[in-house]
Amino acid sequence: MTASYWPAASVKSSREAFDSAFRAGAQSHGAVIIENFSFEAPWTDIKSLQDLLVRRPDICERLNAAQPPTKPNVKLAAVNFNKDSNRIIDQKVSLDSSAKRISKMAEDGVDIVELLGEQCKSIIDFHANIEALLAPRIMQALSGLVDDQLDSIHSDRAFTLRLCHYFERQAGEIAPRCGKHRDYGTFTIIFQDASQPGLEMLRDGVWQRVPAGCCVVQFGWCSQIRSNDRIKALPHRVVDSPAGADGIVPRRDSVAFFVAPDEAALLETITREGEVALYADMPTTHKQFKALMARRWSEREGTVEAGSDTRSQEDIVEEYQRAATMRHASAMDSGPAIKEALSTAAAPAICA
Ligand SMILES: [Fe+2]
Repeated sequence: MTASYWPAASVKSSREAFDSAFRAGAQSHGAVIIENFSFEAPWTDIKSLQDLLVRRPDICERLNAAQPPTKPNVKLAAVNFNKDSNRIIDQKVSLDSSAKRISKMAEDGVDIVELLGEQCKSIIDFHANIEALLAPRIMQALSGLVDDQLDSIHSDRAFTLRLCHYFERQAGEIAPRCGKHRDYGTFTIIFQDASQPGLEMLRDGVWQRVPAGCCVVQFGWCSQIRSNDRIKALPHRVVDSPAGADGIVPRRDSVAFFVAPDEAALLETITREGEVALYADMPTTHKQFKALMARRWSEREGTVEAGSDTRSQEDIVEEYQRAATMRHASAMDSGPAIKEALSTAAAPAICA
C-alpha cells in the first residue's frame, strides 16, 4: 500500500485548487491526505509528555480532577488493562486538551506548565497553529460539500486536541490498540509520527493502510448525516506494527484534532435536488445526538461500563435510514400526487 491510494490536497496550492482537490477526495474516498502545511507536530515533546503521564499517575489524577468525573481528560483505563480477552477497551493512553479545559484548569488554580513541564508549550502552540491555519481551510473546503453554512454551527469552537500513545506491548495481544469505530463530529485531522504505521481505514470492505507520517482528514457521523451521505464517516482502527526480534511491538504516537458542531445547533440533513432525506427522524440537536452516540465510544475507551442497550452506532444510524427508506417507499405507493413528486428522487442508500 502506498500513499497514492489516498487522494491528497496541498495547502500550498491556491484556495480554489485546494478546495477542489479536497472535495473530490472527500467524496471519492472519504479521507484526504493534507500536504505542505507550514508547521510540524513537536513529536519529541509529545513523546516526552506521554512518558511523563505513564510515569506519574499523580499528575493524571490532578488533570482528571479538573474535569467532571464522567469525562476524564486523561484516559488511563488501558494502562490498567487486565488482558481479559473479552474486553474491548483500547490499549492506549490519551490526553485531551481544549481551550475550555485549559481555562477550567486555570480557574481551578492549576498551572499547566508547572504540572506538565516546558514541553507542553510547543504542544499548545501546535494546537493553536492547527486551529488558526489548518482547520479553517478544511472547514471552507468542506462547506461546499456538506452545508454552505458550516461556520455558523461551529461558533462554540468545540475543538479538541487528543494526544494518543499506543505503548509498546507483546505481539499477539487480542485487545485492540484502537478498535474499529467511526468518529462523531464534523471532521478529524490526524497527525502521525513517521516511525510507526498502524492506522487503517475501511473502504469498500477492505482495510486500507494510511502510511506513517501522513496527515489525514476523515469525517464523522455529523458530516455523514448533515451531507445526507454525500460524505461518509469511514470506519477506522489502529493495529500493531510488526514486532521486533524480541517479540515487542514498538510504541506509536499520534495526534487527533477533532472538530464538532455546537451542541445547541440543529442536526439538519441538507439535501440536494433529486436526493431523498435519509435522516429525517434523527434527534433534533447535536447535543441529543451526541448523547445517543457517546455511550458507545465511552465503553470502548473504558470510561463507562456496557449498558443494557447493546445497539452499536451503526445499528442506530441504520435504524433511522431504514425508517426513511420505508417511508419513502410507502409514499411512492400512496398516490399519484406524492408519487409524481418523488418520481425523480434517487433510491436512498443504506450505508455499509
Ligand atoms: Fe477515530
